[in-house]
Amino acid sequence: MVRIVETSVRDGHQSLFATRMTTEEVVKLCEAYDRAGFSAIEVWGGATFDSCMRFLNEDPWERLRAVRKVCKNTKLQMLFRGQNILGYRHYSDDVVDMFCKKSIENGIDIIRVFDALNDIRNLETAVKSTKKYGGECQIALSYTTSPIHTIEYYVNLAKEIEELGADSICIKDMAGVLLPEDATKLVSALKKNCNLPIELHSHCTAGICEMTYMAAIKAGVDIVDTSVSPLSNGTAQPSTQALCNALRGTEYDPKIDMDVIHEIEPEVTKIVNKYVANGLLNPKSFQVNPNILTYQVPGGMLSNMIKQLTDQGAMDRYEEVLREIPNVRKEMGYPPLVTPLSQMVGTQSVLNILGGERYKLCAKEIKDYLHGRYGKSPAPVNEEIKKKIIGDDEVITCRPADLLEPEFEKLKEKYKDIAKCDEDVLSLALFEGVATEFLTNKYNPKPAIEEDSFDMYI
Ligand code: CO
Repeated sequence: MVRIVETSVRDGHQSLFATRMTTEEVVKLCEAYDRAGFSAIEVWGGATFDSCMRFLNEDPWERLRAVRKVCKNTKLQMLFRGQNILGYRHYSDDVVDMFCKKSIENGIDIIRVFDALNDIRNLETAVKSTKKYGGECQIALSYTTSPIHTIEYYVNLAKEIEELGADSICIKDMAGVLLPEDATKLVSALKKNCNLPIELHSHCTAGICEMTYMAAIKAGVDIVDTSVSPLSNGTAQPSTQALCNALRGTEYDPKIDMDVIHEIEPEVTKIVNKYVANGLLNPKSFQVNPNILTYQVPGGMLSNMIKQLTDQGAMDRYEEVLREIPNVRKEMGYPPLVTPLSQMVGTQSVLNILGGERYKLCAKEIKDYLHGRYGKSPAPVNEEIKKKIIGDDEVITCRPADLLEPEFEKLKEKYKDIAKCDEDVLSLALFEGVATEFLTNKYNPKPAIEEDSFDMYI
């Protein structure tokens, strides 16, 4: 039997309509999902935390507690970016530790941790802390293809992960580029060489995902990630209903209660229709985009680049930029194109093409990366280019977080006027500007508009 992790209320809306589902909508779906027999529901982390405060004026911690309240039978899972937690820089160990503690206290069972570079050192604290507070820790391998990302590379990584104390391993194919035949080989090799349960997470962007899932299932994968349709496919995960139907009556049947899913389907449809109508969900997101297999570029990275080029009035250079990406990626030592590396490589490719000379302009994050501040690149970076950008500067070779001072208590003191609990301090630690505004508003709501100050002729 293969088991299913339901992803519609985290990755589903994050991939399809910029993570805009409200807590009310999420809770309504989770209430039903809880009765369907999923292995876990992915409900939190990733971009949901930032999006709650930035766009929805909602407290992400309250969302987690509300979901926990209605999910009495099913494990809740979150996505966690190693030492970056849910933000975009490295945080000190005490912040990572406190975040794991509070996530678990507020209702998370499984923390899925990954590092964009697959640098195990960036996962150490998250794994230790998750275990310390009684959580289950899954480590995700950032999947990509390159001359160094071989089956052997992933098997060695999996062995290190097992030693580190993880409870399970996920193959995280964020761009949806894992081919069925490669899935067979990878899953078989992982099953043979390590004892942990193996989960597969991919996206339908390139149109091959269901075939890849089927190959992985036949090769013995333990868990796959799917999303209840119509909040599925396109840039999101395959349809939960479709996979269950395909496996019905076989030895792999996930035994999901389809009556429960049918019951909630109209609600899911209503939500999808709402975001299509308000323009946040572009129906194009559901189209198959085979080109990502050529350029290995995740959907989110493409839309970012298109925006940068449009802002510069340079959409005519789009093809050139696309062709530049593999060069930049090679010179940077083949980082997997996942947040934040996807944005960094994409932006640098745009700068290389629009700047007139390659690496004449360079993003600060790329400089930090070359200084070793993100960890170890999978393959060595191009020395000539490194020298051009950072000269003979010293490069960090230790675990980047070893250089960071504890910051939690300092933030707690700094924000004692607007943070009412440790959860608030964590929101501020991760998204200082957004959380300051959100919390100030939350605890001191602006007075309602008075009648005589209301100008009806605006
Ligand atoms: Co994903």
